[in-house]
Amino acid sequence: PSSQEYQFLQISEPRPGVGQITLNRPKALNALSTPLITELNTALKAFDKSSSISAILLTGSERAFAAGADIKEMAPLTFSEAYTTSFIESWSTLTTTIKKPIIAAVSGHALGGGCELALMCDILYCTETANFGQPEIKLGTIPGAGGSQRLTRAIGKARAMELILTGKNFSGKEAGEWGVAARTFKDWDALIEGSLKTAETIAGYSKVSVMAAKEVVNKSQDLPLRDGVEYERRVFHSLFGSEDQKIGMKAFAEKKKAEWTHK
Ligand code: CAA
Repeated sequence: PSSQEYQFLQISEPRPGVGQITLNRPKALNALSTPLITELNTALKAFDKSSSISAILLTGSERAFAAGADIKEMAPLTFSEAYTTSFIESWSTLTTTIKKPIIAAVSGHALGGGCELALMCDILYCTETANFGQPEIKLGTIPGAGGSQRLTRAIGKARAMELILTGKNFSGKEAGEWGVAARTFKDWDALIEGSLKTAETIAGYSKVSVMAAKEVVNKSQDLPLRDGVEYERRVFHSLFGSEDQKIGMKAFAEKKKAEWTHK
């Protein structure tokens, strides 16, 4: 995919095997309107299908990852419109359909739906000064794209309840300390460089094992431990059917670099 096809996104392939999607609706601080999410899903699916891409980087601008769902779009919505059009449901494509790992690189505001979008990604990196929060309570509503569930799992009920009920924001530094972010960076340049490095590292492995690893880690969020461990073992067994498992283990024994076939 190329950027020309998109009104609200920029698309690039900045490193071998890495596809980058940059949210680009600067005038609205990347507010996540339905047309933007539709484009995002199209771009994600295109990278997921592309044989040259193994890892996806999702970012915004230095000022805003995304300032939430589009409040101006939502303001006049009625219950029946929201219900019958399954408003927000299409945001789930990122978690239900995309099999390649997605790294969120968050700088600036990641509020409401922006925070939720970042939480849906597989690895979250941010700057220390990033501004996270679920401020929906201030708008007379509640998080609607998984915030009450994913934030609570990430930071525990005590902190999540306080944040969601007060609408108070939390910093990137806190996101790092609380385990929401896998890593924090001192500024935008370091964030992007660090995110690209991680994406490139992941893209250097066999696509088969990378996708399987993402799948089994994410299962841990849905399954009881016993079922999750069994699920992992089944997928682990299945990887003995891949060419890359033979290549990887043979290369180790021969002290050579593995040349993956991604099969
Ligand atoms: N939706 C629509 N437009 C938005 C927006 C949003 N979520 N966030 C910002 N904008 C627009 C502003 O309206 C403004 O547009 P105009 O220039 O046309 O007035 C432009 O972006 C710049 O914003 P500000 O002038 O407000 O910039 P600021 O630097 O003073 O403040 C901010 C930044 C603190 C992020 C502030 O914009 C803000 O509070 N935004 C709303 C955050 C929010 O409440 N998000 C939750 C949305 S609800 C949700 O997401 C539901 C869900 O769970 C799915």
